[in-house]
Amino acid sequence: MCGIFAYVGEEQAAPILMEGLSALEYRGYDSAGLCVGGRCVRSVGAVEQLRARLGDTMLAGKSGIAHLRWATHGEPSEQNAHPHADCGQHVFVVHNGIIENFRELREKLAAAGHRFASETDSEVLARLIEAHRRAGADLEQAVCLALKDVRGTYGLAVSCAEEPGTIIAARMGAPIVVGMGERAHFVASDPSPILAHTKHVLYLEDGEVAVLTAKAHRVFSLDGTKVSRDVETIEWGVEQIQKSGFDHFMLKEIMEEPDVIENTIRGRLIPGQGRAKLGGLDSVAERLAKVKRIVVVGCGTAFYAGQVGEYMLEEFAGIPVEVEVGSEFRYRTPILEEGTMLLAISQSGETADTLEAIREAKRQGALTIGIVNTVGSTIARETDAGIYNHAGPEIGVASTKAFISQLTALALLTLFLGRQRTMSEAVGKRIANELLALPLKLEHILLQHDELCALALRYKDARDFLYIGRKYNYATAFEGALKLKEVSYLHAEGCGAGEMKHGPLAMIDKNFPTFAIALQDSVYEKMRSNIQEIKARRGPVVALATEGDTGLADLADDVVFVPPTLEMLSPILAVVPLQLFAYYISVARGLNVDRPRNLAKSVTVE
Ligand code: M6R
Repeated sequence: MCGIFAYVGEEQAAPILMEGLSALEYRGYDSAGLCVGGRCVRSVGAVEQLRARLGDTMLAGKSGIAHLRWATHGEPSEQNAHPHADCGQHVFVVHNGIIENFRELREKLAAAGHRFASETDSEVLARLIEAHRRAGADLEQAVCLALKDVRGTYGLAVSCAEEPGTIIAARMGAPIVVGMGERAHFVASDPSPILAHTKHVLYLEDGEVAVLTAKAHRVFSLDGTKVSRDVETIEWGVEQIQKSGFDHFMLKEIMEEPDVIENTIRGRLIPGQGRAKLGGLDSVAERLAKVKRIVVVGCGTAFYAGQVGEYMLEEFAGIPVEVEVGSEFRYRTPILEEGTMLLAISQSGETADTLEAIREAKRQGALTIGIVNTVGSTIARETDAGIYNHAGPEIGVASTKAFISQLTALALLTLFLGRQRTMSEAVGKRIANELLALPLKLEHILLQHDELCALALRYKDARDFLYIGRKYNYATAFEGALKLKEVSYLHAEGCGAGEMKHGPLAMIDKNFPTFAIALQDSVYEKMRSNIQEIKARRGPVVALATEGDTGLADLADDVVFVPPTLEMLSPILAVVPLQLFAYYISVARGLNVDRPRNLAKSVTVE
């Protein structure tokens, strides 16, 4: 959510910044801008529009800052695009986050003679720095003093026309990673724009500031205490953040799903003993054995993964589980009694709502565990222990392969916790062996992409869509609807199939199709009845069925098949046709699949 990129080194900054913005574009695309050598160019829209706006403009200089905006305060306009400057056009700021007390600061600054050019909260940062410089502070001091004046969240980078060889970065609640190049430093919201230059990074913690020149870096906390931080190496390769011949990242990421499962389970199963070996949980294994209740927190797709996890953990590990969206968790009065563990699920590891839930749980002394994809992210670092998904970077805003890996990690966790308790070796072996069989089954589903494309073309003009499922595929239905909503902008609703008769059935008519997940599992007969109820109201039905099930062809208008698997693992297969269906509808409607309007990949504001 908003992407920041900055460079200081020995090369011309502008081309490096533009390339970096392209790699970061999934974080925001309402407007874009950069500042090099004291000159700013900004535009509405994403990097291509900025490139067009730049045209032949020469922005000469060996350092600069750049930004992609996901609008919070003020509409997407050139005026509101970053970088923001002080009145004298000396200091420039790019910011990700929300300055909560900006109105009050803005009034004070306006009363002192500052004139504001934008409606954003971020602009006050530049003006505050200016005010402290006018009062005699040097740039570094002025940045620190300004940051002490603000309340809220920020990941930011600052440049100053009078100190062109220096970039200052700071973090409070919004991620900042510093790339350590050879005679160059980079600042970014996540590692993707840095990867083309270096794999060596350090992550700032909240309340820390980094002062960077081409050859040196210094990190200290806002109170001035020096911080020494280990440099980490990013595992991802630059090819993982490229489309590699696919039309869209979403399709590439769906096609990667068989590999993703392999990567998530690699080295983590002992099939002969029916056990999971999770190195990331070793340090808390004893505490895990005593856990009496699990509260799962996530947002969007991660929340739906958590709901599937609830069924897995309750059935196979015998632990009571509740699942909640991060944005609600801390606004009630959550009671985490002794023995309760909070399990946070997040692809980015930066989602503010999920992060705040973790912090609340920690305040209450609960054990916190993460299922996180992004290594080194805030959630990965702030939880007590965790399981990395190893899905590789996910660039498409619509989460696909991350969901598959979250479900796989949840199955591993279920195996781990279940075997610590009463799960038999035989059941453990069955789960382990079926997990190993999933990649091939998934490949088999992906071979049906042409049929799913044809199906999407048949339904692309529907205005509304319902997705229904039960038990393990209750959440899959909601995830299928979420995918369709976000990439096609169609109205899509998920619904527990048993809930249809309590209201949603009223919407059904011949123009309101339903995607029904009706696999041959413990709720198959119930699902068949629910499909009958829809057909009796002339609603078109696409059924998702188990291979070999010939009984649905007469009932449904269209049938898509997935291979049989254990019921607890079935969402891992069932969701794939739903993802492809949403993808092809989006393509057929000519939409921006990877960057749906109004959304951003990593939601770092509450
Ligand atoms: O990075 P996270 O997994 O914490 O993100 C959570 C949601 O923002 C995310 O899943 C979102 O709902 C996706 N766009 C769904 O496709």
